[in-house]
Amino acid sequence: MIKKNSKIVLIGGTGLIGTKLVNNLRHLGHEVVAASPSSGVNVLTGEGLADALKDAEVVVDVSDAPSWEDKDVLDFFETSGRNLLAAEAVAGVKHHVALSVVGTERLLSSGYFRAKMAEEKLIKASPIPYTIVRATQFFEFVGGIAQFATEGKTVRLPPVLMQPIVSDDVAAALADVAISEPINGVLEVAGPEQIRQDELVRRFLSATGDARTVVTYANARYYGTKVNDQSLVPGANPRLGSTHFDEWLSRTTLQKKAKATPRSNLSRKVATVSVLLLCGIVFTALSLRDTAANDSSTNDSKVTLVFDQALPNVPGKSIKGVLVEYPPGGSSPAHTHPHSAFIYATVLEGAIRSSVNGAPVRLYHAGENFYEEPGDHHGVSANASKTEPARLLAVLVVDSDEKRLTIPDK
Ligand SMILES: NC(=O)c1ccc[n+]([C@@H]2O[C@H](COP(=O)([O-])OP(=O)(O)OC[C@H]3O[C@@H](n4cnc5c(N)ncnc54)[C@H](OP(=O)(O)O)[C@@H]3O)[C@@H](O)[C@H]2O)c1
Repeated sequence: MIKKNSKIVLIGGTGLIGTKLVNNLRHLGHEVVAASPSSGVNVLTGEGLADALKDAEVVVDVSDAPSWEDKDVLDFFETSGRNLLAAEAVAGVKHHVALSVVGTERLLSSGYFRAKMAEEKLIKASPIPYTIVRATQFFEFVGGIAQFATEGKTVRLPPVLMQPIVSDDVAAALADVAISEPINGVLEVAGPEQIRQDELVRRFLSATGDARTVVTYANARYYGTKVNDQSLVPGANPRLGSTHFDEWLSRTTLQKKAKATPRSNLSRKVATVSVLLLCGIVFTALSLRDTAANDSSTNDSKVTLVFDQALPNVPGKSIKGVLVEYPPGGSSPAHTHPHSAFIYATVLEGAIRSSVNGAPVRLYHAGENFYEEPGDHHGVSANASKTEPARLLAVLVVDSDEKRLTIPDK
């Protein structure tokens, strides 16, 4: 067990797991550095790495690649792994902890898992004492599984066993590992119950009011990879989380409803995000990663519907204008747009980091614009500055009866 006030560096400390882990380790009395490109630490370029690691006892790597294209993701985990382990050796780090995925060695026809395997190999070959924690799929990732398998209004999924886990339970396990001695091996963490993938997604879509239908198809692949009942579940003696999927679903659905309570004096068309949520439009609001980081919504973008008009010459279609205001360092959760929505966005103030459909993150300054096709996945949408606010206007041409302008992933 490490001493109180030990310095622990979290690579990817602003991500879903990272933000929760920061809180857990700070509560345990440690000095925690949440490192990521937005805090000036980039494991790909090496920028800020040596400074961040100075006097660090433990490094926990919970970063993830911005693009999951085969070449990009392999390049990310190989380059970041090499840079990070080399910098740790110089800084005298005593324990390297990394988060990987249960079943990685069984899923190697996927580029993502080949990249995770490459990361694990680098760790095992390095002189730094280590612990690799392999987790099953996060509950927050289920929306992404559905999205990837969607064709039109149907989601084709295999009925294979899974044992998903909530991100809080992963962060709790990682906190424990980070303050313990390295095991120089791999341990697995998983949720408390097994459930078949088609059923898991069916429950998720039903609880979130998503109209898509899950079609069970024995030969459907998981992110392009053949899977069976053994592929995604842990081996003997995994560490188990305590949160059940249905409990998490009802909790997050209730939280969304609570946050949808409107304020009384708002006008009908110029409304805050709570009114948008009340209308069933879950555009961006509170992301799990931001609430985890701050225990408040201060880091979230604010969304206001500023224009909503049926198109007179295109029956059934409307044009809607949405103003998105990002506080310094603010962001929107990853989300998908409805299949009827074509979106044009222009940056009004500051600069926005944006990635659509897994493409590399691009920076858009005031006056620059981009567009999104129907059903596109908007993975990164964030203020590029930690000190200045940013604003963008999104104009959507969308089915008039479309109630959900975005569907958050997590
Ligand atoms: N999703 C699942 O179901 C699942 C299951 C098992 C294991 N895992 C593993 O869990 C890990 C974390 O996942 P997550 O969902 O928490 O990820 P996430 O929310 O996507 O966060 C990724 C983090 O990586 C950071 N990052 C990106 N590029 C970086 C760079 N060049 N240098 C330093 N940091 C960089 C990001 O920083 P910015 O915010 O500044 O961009 C962010 O903090 C991944 O390695 C994944 O393989 C995931």
